[in-house]
Amino acid sequence: MRLDKYLCESGKGTRTEVKKQISRGAVSVNCTIIKDAGYKIDENADRVSIDGVEVKYADFEYYMLNKPQGVISASRDKRGGKTLCVTDLIREKIRSDLFPVGRLDKDTEGLLIITNDGDMAHRLLSPKRHVDKTYYAELDGKILPDAAERIMAGVDIGDDKPTMPCQVNMLSDSSCFITIHEGRYHEIKRMFKTEGRTVTYLKRISMGPISLDPELAPGEYRLLTDKETELLKNA
Ligand code: URA
Repeated sequence: MRLDKYLCESGKGTRTEVKKQISRGAVSVNCTIIKDAGYKIDENADRVSIDGVEVKYADFEYYMLNKPQGVISASRDKRGGKTLCVTDLIREKIRSDLFPVGRLDKDTEGLLIITNDGDMAHRLLSPKRHVDKTYYAELDGKILPDAAERIMAGVDIGDDKPTMPCQVNMLSDSSCFITIHEGRYHEIKRMFKTEGRTVTYLKRISMGPISLDPELAPGEYRLLTDKETELLKNA
């Protein structure tokens, strides 16, 4: 791999920025200063440093984030605004190409996987795979006793097709766990709208085989364990 690519992918700046660091003699490979941005390195064996500080490289990174409200599920605010993005919350990231696997609404909390593993994300989000996503939802008032049955059977939320059958476990007459197998825009909010209710609080608690670590407060994150990563890759 080219030296400048290695540094970019390790989050050390844009291609132009890392090229400047290389040409000013700040970058060494195995303790020898290298001024050629195209110098080929072995990312698994060579030791790369900037100003004497080792630059770690990771092919893939996998984090579990408890997304807080008010943060958008994107890698950067595409509207050019100042809104915080979920990847901004991952302070220790090595890679600069992390993105969230799927989207939660700005006001939704809970489990979000952040990675740069495009294949894994693609598999998890593939509409054909119907990976289960479970949420805890609170509503602005009571729903009728038979509302859960109607939502579970699939409802018309204004798209081409009704929603797929899902599971709803009512915890009270205005809160529930709901497991959906699709990932449509505002899906759960629109499902409860068909019963005349507004979702006032929504939190994702699991995605496929992975559950949100209860130790993580909103805004906190941790690396996925090897076992969790394996489970997601095989989901
Ligand atoms: N359904 C919603 O309505 N919002 C989310 O963030 C996720 C699922």
